Amino acid sequence: MSTRKEIEILARADLFSSPPKTDGGFWQNALDYCVNKIKSNIGVFKHLYPAPASVNGIYPLTGNTDWTSAFWPGMLFLAWENTGDEIFLKEGESYIPSFIARLDKPGETATHDLGFLYTLSCIASWRLTGNAPAREAALRAADLLLLRYHENAGIIQAWGDLDDPAQRGRAIIDCAMNLPLLYWAGGETGNPRYRRPAARHITTANQYLIRENWSAYHTYFFDTVTGKPLRGNTAQGYSDDSSWARGQAWGIYGNVLSYRYLKDPALRETARGLARYFLNRLPADLVSYWDLIFTEGPQERDSSAAACAVCGLLELSAALPAAEQDHHCFKNAALHIAASLARSYTTAASPQSTGLLFHGVYSKPDGKGVDECTVFGDYFYLEALTRICRIWEPYW
Ligand code: GLY
Repeated sequence: MSTRKEIEILARADLFSSPPKTDGGFWQNALDYCVNKIKSNIGVFKHLYPAPASVNGIYPLTGNTDWTSAFWPGMLFLAWENTGDEIFLKEGESYIPSFIARLDKPGETATHDLGFLYTLSCIASWRLTGNAPAREAALRAADLLLLRYHENAGIIQAWGDLDDPAQRGRAIIDCAMNLPLLYWAGGETGNPRYRRPAARHITTANQYLIRENWSAYHTYFFDTVTGKPLRGNTAQGYSDDSSWARGQAWGIYGNVLSYRYLKDPALRETARGLARYFLNRLPADLVSYWDLIFTEGPQERDSSAAACAVCGLLELSAALPAAEQDHHCFKNAALHIAASLARSYTTAASPQSTGLLFHGVYSKPDGKGVDECTVFGDYFYLEALTRICRIWEPYW
């Protein structure tokens, strides 16, 4: 068990002692921009799915085959919650049969990302409309996710076949966002077999994927027979010992979501430590570089990491008592980051773009989606604005 240092001092404590100065209507205008773009995209996407990242600001269209397929229906559901306009709900619901069908395609379910996929599609649909087949599909997805759990190591394997020597026993920080599917299934069925592996995974991940200084490895290998932790390495970050920005953001949000279900104070403290590290590594405009090893210079930003962190910080702030300074600091930090995104990162000046936020990075080491719109960045930006503008019950 690592003995982590005292959580670092928050470098921008002065800035984060108050919210950003915004004109009346600032947040609603930001939200309206997103909702209008989503409405016009309905006619462009025509029941297909935007690819994970745009090309020159325009999303190629695909089938329901990627880990990112649910972000678009998730945005449609959010747009409906914000406007009450039935077109969004009808369109969101029209995607559910394809998520039900996907469950019978083993090549497209062999991933831990079943959480992203079924939370923002079928669970959202069930929560909002009581769609019973969507609920059944999400429960089936949870069962499939459980198959990826390695009992001896106490982790859910992220990618690939369970026998693939290159992927066997690999846990990744992103998986924290997939655990709410299991917590939800446990709550729906009353069956404890969902919650225990999820709780064990987050505990193991926090023990080994988070370093002494509260930065996160992207991935970590375990021996699935002995359970022995082997080594950390990166897939989408700059180096094995750096912190990939979106991974750090997944860690913040994922831990506080686990806290929402498990109420284990250690999870909230982990989210706090990860959040402080993230906030201490931001450049002047508060939108992180694609890897937190960079704090200035010509490298690309990752607006998706910023948007996801905003959601995590808002959830973390709400999980802390109002008497704690961090309750206010984290909320103000989230608002400052979101305001920077709204002012300087949206596609508003490029009407031909089908994205919401420019300057995201999908995978820099792979040269994929570098300095582009990302469908997950767009989703979390809309979720962040929804959280800012209204009281919102998460799909997670
Ligand atoms: N979960 C994969 C990514 O964040 O790119």
